[in-house]
Amino acid sequence: MLPDSFIQELNAKNDIESVVSSYVSMKRRGRNLVGLCPFHGEKTPSFNLYPETNSFYCFGCGAGGDVITFIRRIENLSYIDAVKFLADRAGMSMPEQSFNDTTSKQRMRVLEANREAARLFHACLYSAEGRVGLEYYRSRGYTDSIIKRFGLGYAPQSFDFLRSELRKKGFHDEELVLAWLCAKNRNGNGIHDIFRNRVMIPIIDVRGNVIAFGGRVLDDSKPKYLNSGDTLVFKKTNNLFALNFAKQGKTDNLILCEGYMDVIALHQAGFTNAVAALGTSFTMEHARLLARYTDEVVLVFDADAAGQKGAQRAIGMLREIGMRVRLITVPDGKDPDEFIKRNGAERFKLLLDRAANDVEYRLMELGKKHLLNTSDGKVNYLKEATQLLASISSPLERDVYIGRLSADLGVSKTALQSQLNYQLQRQKKQQQDKQFSQVIKQSESTAQKANPDAKTHVRGASAEEGLLGMILLNPDYMTAVRPLLSADEMITAFNRNLYATLVERMDQGLSLELSHLSELYEPEEMAYITKMVRDARERVSSHTVDEAKRYVSIIRSEHHLAALNEPSSLTPEQIQEKLNAMKHMKK
Ligand code: CTP
Ligand code: MN
Repeated sequence: MLPDSFIQELNAKNDIESVVSSYVSMKRRGRNLVGLCPFHGEKTPSFNLYPETNSFYCFGCGAGGDVITFIRRIENLSYIDAVKFLADRAGMSMPEQSFNDTTSKQRMRVLEANREAARLFHACLYSAEGRVGLEYYRSRGYTDSIIKRFGLGYAPQSFDFLRSELRKKGFHDEELVLAWLCAKNRNGNGIHDIFRNRVMIPIIDVRGNVIAFGGRVLDDSKPKYLNSGDTLVFKKTNNLFALNFAKQGKTDNLILCEGYMDVIALHQAGFTNAVAALGTSFTMEHARLLARYTDEVVLVFDADAAGQKGAQRAIGMLREIGMRVRLITVPDGKDPDEFIKRNGAERFKLLLDRAANDVEYRLMELGKKHLLNTSDGKVNYLKEATQLLASISSPLERDVYIGRLSADLGVSKTALQSQLNYQLQRQKKQQQDKQFSQVIKQSESTAQKANPDAKTHVRGASAEEGLLGMILLNPDYMTAVRPLLSADEMITAFNRNLYATLVERMDQGLSLELSHLSELYEPEEMAYITKMVRDARERVSSHTVDEAKRYVSIIRSEHHLAALNEPSSLTPEQIQEKLNAMKHMKK
């Protein structure tokens, strides 16, 4: 356990507002702040910060908790690593060994092994053994300086290169397996190198850690790329290649391309704002990661069917979180690497500047679907086109396209505008309905995940939630509540456990604030607890000790009812006793 005083200071020095603001842009609303949730895609903000309790809660997806839970989720860290992260941020040092940090230490070892491996692969490139690798890079036109900048390397044709070198440096077999650098031999004895005879590309995160590798074959054999699997320090859906460099540039946008080699070629040609997803298709997590660093993404995908499908997918996700998107299709079906080699960086710069934004691109695609020289075709095209325009959030931007459509198709601007207004109304209503039902569904499932009993004991659980929320906001009520209610009278298992924890902490003179609970509870459970506190805050005017007592009596009567429903374990006398007790309580 970490000392209370330490968690207290950690909270004081990491207020939720400033911590979250470096990930999400937040607007003040009354006592709270609202913004777009970083944990799910949404256009209307339902992500709330509560500075008073240093906590957050999203009505859209049910994510919630204290500041440590926030860091756990957004940085994908364990509890203890999230605490370290915040301590670091606030310039605090961790208290001496009072916690279990096995995974934290393992992560450190994996990162160290990766760094050493990257050094070894890079050094190998300039040895006799690595000559083939260097020649491969040369054949692609890579300079020594770009090789050095990206830390590119070569893994020799050996089952035993990394293993023996890293063993000399003190790494154990298990650590190398954990790092996804080596794999167990089939016969169960010993381990061997995974990457062999491949040019090696280290994946580096925004903090400068080597978290994984991509390895490419030197010829046309398969598989072309071998990428690290997910490890303690790497999740491929959560990371983008070269973001560590790209985020430092001063450009207004980031270029998203398909592969490692495209990114490296673009950086060499001076486009240092290029990134790529890592051997996987683009995900919502990638989109949100990009949104932390820029408002505009330029997609550079291959012209083949796979590339275009990938682009459509990425456009949808980026739009969903309100990003501006533009798109380049490289002429002649080439990838950017080949295009630059053939036509030079200037020509590519022209392509970039002229890149159509996604609306133009989608209008163009729509246009191909309809016969614009027939009236029917025109009408259908305009219907779909206004529907598309209704999804643009900027009125100015919408107006530009209305003007353009009107000129292109010879239809009056007013007619288009009224069709657009109709679509806007419709989409707004659809979105509200969707958000409403999502909020209902979500708040049910937040409780469901953390406290499955709540479903079968609706009335009891809601009284428990009301009471617990009130106590967490007004810890002094505990003095009055405690003699009236013992933990085993709580009906649902999770709430019983939480109440017992609060009683115990109070006995030890410890604080009942939210942030002290996140060491004990998982993020989903923290979301449930935060929701109780949030709901209690909404009713803050009715907070009195009497109100708390009212909850207690509901809980007790529900408890007796619940016991009656399991009569098998009760004798008739006991049942009579319970009934009497209940009569008593109603008075
Ligand atoms: N990829 C992968 N595994 C494969 C093929 C591709 O992980 N077997 C991923 C890699 O991240 C690769 C990206 O998909 O960079 C794009 O694939 P492709 O266009 O085939 O590779 P290029 O980057 O163009 O590689 P090269 O120019 O070296 O052929
Ligand atoms: Mn290529």
